[in-house]
Amino acid sequence: MSMNSIILHPSQKRSKDRYDPLKLTKLPIPTPGDGEILIKIHYAALNHRDLFIRQGLYPGIGTSKSCLGADCSGVVVKGTKKFSPGTKVILNPAINWEKKSKTDYFSVLGLLPEPGTLSEFICIDERQVFFKPEHLAFEEGASLPLAGLTAFRACFTKGEIKKDSVVFIPGIGGGVALFALQFCIAVGAKVVVSSSSEEKIEKAISLGALFGVNYKKNGWVETLKQFAVNDSPFSHIIDGSGGDENYSSFLKILTLGGKIITYGSTQSSNLTLLLPNLFLKQIEIKGTSMGSSEEFEEMIGFIEKYKIKPIISKIFVGLENFESAFEHMRNSSQFGKIVEKNVGKILDLEKKVTEKSLELQSKTKIKSEMENELKQMQNKVDAVKKK
Ligand SMILES: NC(=O)c1ccc[n+]([C@@H]2O[C@H](COP(=O)([O-])OP(=O)(O)OC[C@H]3O[C@@H](n4cnc5c(N)ncnc54)[C@H](OP(=O)(O)O)[C@@H]3O)[C@@H](O)[C@H]2O)c1
Repeated sequence: MSMNSIILHPSQKRSKDRYDPLKLTKLPIPTPGDGEILIKIHYAALNHRDLFIRQGLYPGIGTSKSCLGADCSGVVVKGTKKFSPGTKVILNPAINWEKKSKTDYFSVLGLLPEPGTLSEFICIDERQVFFKPEHLAFEEGASLPLAGLTAFRACFTKGEIKKDSVVFIPGIGGGVALFALQFCIAVGAKVVVSSSSEEKIEKAISLGALFGVNYKKNGWVETLKQFAVNDSPFSHIIDGSGGDENYSSFLKILTLGGKIITYGSTQSSNLTLLLPNLFLKQIEIKGTSMGSSEEFEEMIGFIEKYKIKPIISKIFVGLENFESAFEHMRNSSQFGKIVEKNVGKILDLEKKVTEKSLELQSKTKIKSEMENELKQMQNKVDAVKKK
């Protein structure tokens, strides 16, 4: 038996416009070993990481042909005592990191030697498998793991955000940023956001943000500085954008002893800082990356408690439409997660059912026309007999 998977073909190019091809490839369905589970993937979700991998901007790409994708939801096909066939599940994409008290090196689904989720099936160690929260649909379950875990650790383990925290979240269209907004709002913190789009700012306000600034327009730092002085000073910045310009602005708007929690560098990885601006205000910069199994479990408990649902930007139907999904992310068009509905085979079947039912309808029509004709002929015969 074979399955379709999206496979990366690394080009090794060292250019700014590198964008490695992905190919829809037929592979054998893997057989689970001891303690492993075979899962039929229903939905997979993209992360900015998948884009960085294609652009050659991610560590450990090498020359191997990886199946991309770190997020998914699905149903157990071959399971264990805990996860029997038919169980609805999601996966923790961070592998080999148990406890939050001990920061460990870990690997992530979607780059060899780990399997990827942009595929019809995945075979994985039982320790990575979690029951899908009941209040989430499959597509929402697939949207949660990587971005939700990153935001959870950034906000609570590293940021220790509480009710009285005042948080600035740049680039609210991003997957992690949106979870951070939802998590901070859930505990009662005040949140202000930024975005390149007025529409995304409006959507963030409808989710509970106080207001937002457009980082593409001049004067956004002044607006935030005024808020910090006149209202409540920012105690936290949860940032995945990076870059000199952003960081020099962050240092201006934070209160004494404020914290920047950095989980990414979408805009720029290089940073030049005037250190006095940092130490004179006693500002802390904390780096964070995804999270441990313990935090993944806590994050699930948290979203169940507050009934938080991931925001989905768009669902692309069929693995074969992966390029449109990547384009959606490449253009920064998204507000929330980009999801792939993995229904190639179901669609084929649905198509056959539709064709057969159309055939049946036309045959039924012919049958009833013939029955009518027969009836009319019989009537004529009866009329002649009567005469
Ligand atoms: N360390 C980890 O474990 C970890 C985990 C997940 C992600 N990340 C990293 O975090 C970053 C975001 O990931 P994601 O998957 O959430 O990305 P995403 O969904 O692709 O979102 C990226 C967002 O970045 C925002 N942005 C772009 N330029 C900006 C700027 N100059 N200032 C402020 N915001 C800007 C845009 O927001 P608007 O659309 O609102 O303009 C865009 O929507 C990536 O760099 C990713 O590699 C790290």
